[in-house]
Amino acid sequence: MVYLPKKVTVKEVGPRDGLQNEKKQINTDDKVKWINMLSHTGLSFIEVTSFVHPKWIPSLADCFEVAKKIDRVEGVTYSALVPNQKGLEKALAAEIDEIAIFMSASETHNQHNVNRSREDSFAILKGVINDSLTENKKVRGYISTVFGCPYEGAIEVAEVLRICEKLFSMGVYEISLGDTIGVATPKQVNEVLSLIFREFPEGQFAMHFHNTRGTALANVNASLELGITSFDSSLGGLGGCPYAPGASGNVATDDLYYLLNTMGIQTGIEEKKLKAAVRYIQEKIGRRLDSHSSRLLEEFL
Ligand code: HMG
Ligand code: MG
Repeated sequence: MVYLPKKVTVKEVGPRDGLQNEKKQINTDDKVKWINMLSHTGLSFIEVTSFVHPKWIPSLADCFEVAKKIDRVEGVTYSALVPNQKGLEKALAAEIDEIAIFMSASETHNQHNVNRSREDSFAILKGVINDSLTENKKVRGYISTVFGCPYEGAIEVAEVLRICEKLFSMGVYEISLGDTIGVATPKQVNEVLSLIFREFPEGQFAMHFHNTRGTALANVNASLELGITSFDSSLGGLGGCPYAPGASGNVATDDLYYLLNTMGIQTGIEEKKLKAAVRYIQEKIGRRLDSHSSRLLEEFL
């Protein structure tokens, strides 16, 4: 008999990972309205934006305004991506609840993504984590390219373990393992997580699957069976990493909800409200979203 958790935390990253790769610029008030809708769906965690350089990610140049303007609903944690001290200063001024730092398992992707070696990134992130904790902000860590890199191909699990060790020792409470380009398969997820869980407890990890090849939900299932209870997803399957050529969006929150709900796993999400938020962002983006569930909305039947 396969073990499955009773409850899972769904971490919505659409306003950050989703919008960072959108060609069409969504105006600030529309983003704010969308995040406010998401705040009332039952989701307990929303990554609302990213305090990176606006030249690198132009679609999130309004990070400060978005973070300041959104309603703060009790029980919802509002997080943002932060690459360095400059980003942290802005995130703190915008009263972000939780800080998300990020680096890549592969050297080349790290260089492309943040213009730094991984060793230099460790030094920067150590300062960011330290200062965040001093400000009583929890810190979440992302490791990208865990299951494969667009430049280097396969990644050694030993490298991922080395980075986990460093980030945990710096004080992150959870590491989100990123399949940045959506190459992972359930077999690989099983192999990689089994090795990681020899060193660290499964409760300290979240999974961040992109759905480039349609394997994301299968990978979620493989992760559930190994005890993962925290998953990142993006409404409608929006998104991708601009510094990972060919990567498509995250596993869709609406498809993830369907899977978990029909498996009897609680998420706290209200389906009707989630659908309304899908409709809203679809209209603002001006195209049909990629999620399977969004195709079942009445207007497309
Ligand atoms: P850099 O050019 O090396 O920055 O970029 P720098 O430190 O040399 O500074 C250059 C200028 O940028 C300076 O201004 C700084 O003040 C300014 P100047 O003195 O020339 O006027 N600057 C900033 N301005 C605003 N906000 C900041 C900031 N930092 C410096 N935070 C940097 C380095 C990290 C800033 C840049 O490479 C960057 O912004 N990269 C972001 C890339 C990114 O957002 N990628 C996507 C997110 S990661 C992802 O999607 C993966 C994930 O989803 C998980 C997965 O799927 O695997 C998380
Ligand atoms: Mg991502």
